Amino acid sequence: MRIAISTGGGDAPGLNAVIRAAVLSAIDRGWHVLGIKRGYMGLLGEDEVIPLTRDSVRGIGHLGGTILRTTNRGNPFHYPVKQPDGSFIEIDRTDELMDNARNLGIEALITIGGDGSLAIAQQLFEKGMRVVGVPKTIDNDVSGTITTFGFDTAVTTAMDAIDKLHTTAESHDRVIVLEVMGRDSGFIALHSGVAGAAHVILIPEIKWDIQNVCDHIMMRDGLGKKFAIVVVAEGVPFDGEVGTMGESMPGQAKRVGGVAERIARAIQARTGKECRSLVLGHLQRGGMPTGYDRLLATRFGGAATEAVANAKWGHMVALQTPHIVPIPIVEALKEHRVVDPSHDVVRTARRIGISFGD
Ligand code: F6P
Repeated sequence: MRIAISTGGGDAPGLNAVIRAAVLSAIDRGWHVLGIKRGYMGLLGEDEVIPLTRDSVRGIGHLGGTILRTTNRGNPFHYPVKQPDGSFIEIDRTDELMDNARNLGIEALITIGGDGSLAIAQQLFEKGMRVVGVPKTIDNDVSGTITTFGFDTAVTTAMDAIDKLHTTAESHDRVIVLEVMGRDSGFIALHSGVAGAAHVILIPEIKWDIQNVCDHIMMRDGLGKKFAIVVVAEGVPFDGEVGTMGESMPGQAKRVGGVAERIARAIQARTGKECRSLVLGHLQRGGMPTGYDRLLATRFGGAATEAVANAKWGHMVALQTPHIVPIPIVEALKEHRVVDPSHDVVRTARRIGISFGD
């Protein structure tokens, strides 16, 4: 058996642990493994396809990033091609991709990615490719699995930032607004905000009002607590609009961000308190995966190999505690996973006095 592995979309801490586990468990079955570099680029002649051996995955389980590299602008069904006038058109390069996979003797593909990459995997499966998916997202926004690797590391990074902001905000009697990732789902903001003891948490799933946020800050002020930490998910709309930061590259989704600064300015204008903002950005995606993420990633890698052995084509591995089970990728793609406002974590936050601005 000859299988291939690819990583697509934004990186997440734990990708290398998945690759390591998938390669070691495949070799254990006597299979050969290839690594496709940069999403599907390696199968389009735009990057390499490399052999993955015990040696290639030695000592990588604790490392962030992905040894296979990744991209979020190489959808082979909508591949951007520059025209002589500088504009871009999109073409379907999947016939070429399938031919190259066949010529390399690839019998099955383990593709590790978020909702975008899993949607591509599903389409390739429908075109005849024998695909098994592994869900990846720091945002925790893939349905069908209780969580994915990368989320715990991102929450830990954001919580560390909130801890550090507490001491400086308190020393200066300032309000600090921290923007964390999460374009459609507020899980990172919610979990890091509760774990880090933020005072206000703003997420896309709960409609908020700036005056409620200011009232909460001034209520604290009145009690002698002159500082406040506000954690906001990047996808939270301000004045009905989700902010963008900078220009996207061709074939890439719009870059979301900038809401923290708009909120900080509004709080300062309404309360007269000094407000600062910061965007935590890609720090949340970098660094070593936590123990939880390494373990989950390793379990996913081993389970993906087993799914290949059991011919679970068009399935992805999912955590359904205490088991890792294969589920149809289409099931996971049916809906985007978002925070349930009646969930216990939200209720716990409210019980301990955290405001959601609603
Ligand atoms: O999809 C995960 C995510 O972390 C989003 O929260 C964020 O908007 C996006 O990736 C940023 O991706 P990049 O800046 O790498 O294109």
